Amino acid sequence: MRVDYKEDADLDVANLRDGWLPVAQQWLAAAIEARIPEPNAMVLATVDADGRPASRTVLCKGLDARGVVFYTNYDSDKGTHLRRTPYASVTFPWIGIERQLTIRGTVSTVSTEATAAYFASRPRGSQLGAWASQQSRPVASREELEQALVKMTERFDGQDVPVPPNWGGFRIEPETVEFWQGRTSRLHNRIRLTIPTQQVERLQP
Ligand SMILES: Cc1cc2nc3c(=O)[nH]c(=O)nc-3n(C[C@H](O)[C@H](O)[C@H](O)COP(=O)(O)O)c2cc1C
Repeated sequence: MRVDYKEDADLDVANLRDGWLPVAQQWLAAAIEARIPEPNAMVLATVDADGRPASRTVLCKGLDARGVVFYTNYDSDKGTHLRRTPYASVTFPWIGIERQLTIRGTVSTVSTEATAAYFASRPRGSQLGAWASQQSRPVASREELEQALVKMTERFDGQDVPVPPNWGGFRIEPETVEFWQGRTSRLHNRIRLTIPTQQVERLQP
């Protein structure tokens, strides 16, 4: 299922006439269709209390007009960073199809209802894991983690696993969205939308 992306039509400013969302959704669909591993994986950058960047991969669990959603532990390093500096950048590195999408913007938490609905859709093992892991904190050994999972499995035996109080979704509301498309001779296409001013610009590669 290798798609020949040299045949891919050139991305142009005109493609973004209807805004960033239709093209972003088309590109995600193309990544899924091309069967690249974890097509909804995105690299999330936050800044710590000293203004230093930190990055890690998370999974995109929502992409609509309101922005990009991912789920995590609110007390993790990223959660702590976002509480202090509610601004983030995410990059989908769709290298297998020679495309990249970067979205930057302000971050807010998703509603408890949306978090509950997503949490309920997860496998029970993942739900218990969310309770067992104090994400980003040190742990003495793998055994200690496994013990924590056993404890949570017993605690919620015979009942639905509730959402941990420190777990949920974040939404990045786009301020800038940049589409990158690989082209020959390194003359790649880069188009950036600045949402507040509705500006659409082609950038040098
Ligand atoms: C493919 C992939 C997907 C991941 N998805 C998530 C995710 O959706 N949410 C999450 O909290 N961590 C996810 N992780 C783990 C994070 O990269 C990271 O290790 C963890 O969230 C702790 O980050 P922090 O200490 O910077 O907060 C994923 C890792 C990989 C490799």
